[in-house]
Amino acid sequence: MISTEIRTPHSGQDYLEKSATESPRRSPNQSLLPLTAKIKDKDLLEIGGCDLKTLVEQFGSPLYILDEVTLRTACEQYRDSFKTYYQGESQVIYASKAWSSLAVVSVIASEGLGFDVVSGGELYTTQKALEKMGYSPQQIAQTIYFHGNNKSLEELQLAIAIGCTIIVDNWLELETLVKLGNATPNVTIPILLRLTPGIECHTHEYIRTGHLDSKFGFDPNQIEAVFTYVAQYPCLNCRGLHAHIGSQIFERQPHQDLAGVMVEWLKKAQDYGLPLTELNIGGGLGICYTEADDPPSIEEWVKAVSEAVMKACEGQKIALPKLIAEPGRSLVGPACVTAYTVGSRKEIPQLRTYIAVDGGMSDNPRPITYQSLYRVVIANRMSVPITETVTVAGKHCESGDILIKDAQLPQTHPGDILVVMGTGAYNYSMASNYNRLSRPAAVLVHDGEANLILQRETYEDLIRQDCLPQRLLA
Ligand SMILES: Cc1ncc(COP(=O)(O)O)c(C=O)c1O
Repeated sequence: MISTEIRTPHSGQDYLEKSATESPRRSPNQSLLPLTAKIKDKDLLEIGGCDLKTLVEQFGSPLYILDEVTLRTACEQYRDSFKTYYQGESQVIYASKAWSSLAVVSVIASEGLGFDVVSGGELYTTQKALEKMGYSPQQIAQTIYFHGNNKSLEELQLAIAIGCTIIVDNWLELETLVKLGNATPNVTIPILLRLTPGIECHTHEYIRTGHLDSKFGFDPNQIEAVFTYVAQYPCLNCRGLHAHIGSQIFERQPHQDLAGVMVEWLKKAQDYGLPLTELNIGGGLGICYTEADDPPSIEEWVKAVSEAVMKACEGQKIALPKLIAEPGRSLVGPACVTAYTVGSRKEIPQLRTYIAVDGGMSDNPRPITYQSLYRVVIANRMSVPITETVTVAGKHCESGDILIKDAQLPQTHPGDILVVMGTGAYNYSMASNYNRLSRPAAVLVHDGEANLILQRETYEDLIRQDCLPQRLLA
């Protein structure tokens, strides 16, 4: 999918694939840079009509730069592809664990998508964003699905008060919901049951969730007991089934297999008096972090999943369920880049050259956690030929704080703007204050305008939650 120029880039401008600018229908998850990326004045990288050097001068660095067009295009492609390929009702919900903030939720909600949340904090963020957009309580309830393998009592009470659908993960949760439901007059709690389908996929073991040895969901051999239990309690409105098999997946087969397994279980539920009408097949579509990555497009993935579900339903002779998908990475990941300022340089002859940037594992923990690979450009030297291989290090007091090993760059100097691509998913949402670094700011760029969507933390923010007992001052 990625052009040959990118396989052997001669300069940063080779990363701007021609097709990215020529075809607005390009699938964002197959692009390394956001769809609006351009070069201005020969050397300056521009995204959303804003040049990155000026953005860093204005907002500081590190800086997350989120391109609205790319994010909206991904939402639109999911939504429209399901309409085209699935003959029943469908809903795309954003897995907000990828990046939960008021602005991200607002853009995605305005594209008509729903939300999956995995904690009280994500639930609160989504609820507040939707309220600000004028959603009624009923619309908010219909828009949110609540996940988690160990939801607290307070989280379950909040979810019931909001009225969102709870994706039940285990027996304790099921029993707690029955207690809460029975204790509250006139309440029925909408639920889906999360199942572990026993499907393997080729991705990092930390982001694989559908295999049998997973902490998430009910085991297949418990399904009949779960169906029997759920059918007894009128306070539970069990609408359907859920499974999520993992993340950053490039093959279509695992989701096609998943469709077959889940539809069989939908059919089986009928024997227990549960006429389930919803099937949530999770997220997981991969994106391009490097030229070696080759995921199917959003449209191809949706087509494969839709056809597999329809075929399985035909085989089992059941009506088409409402089909729900909950992508995270492929919606927000390709829409964002992180801009850093280059600082110190260390050359170890015949071994390695390090260049250090002003962020690192606190704003992007993926390399140190999953050994994830990224590609970089220098935003103010886009046409300068690539001449060196360097290791881009973060500024943390940790040897493993390496953002990119063996990055291909032009001659780079302190003050240059180094841009890491594809940082929209699981970067800000996994960011920390390790070494008491402030979390970066984020801007949303569109048509030459940049709006702050996250303020940079200040030193004062860093000590805001600290408490100093009086006796320590004596
Ligand atoms: C339950 C669930 N749904 C959806 C997702 C989103 O996955 P992805 O970001 O790969 O689309 C995740 C992420 O791992 C998840 O755990």
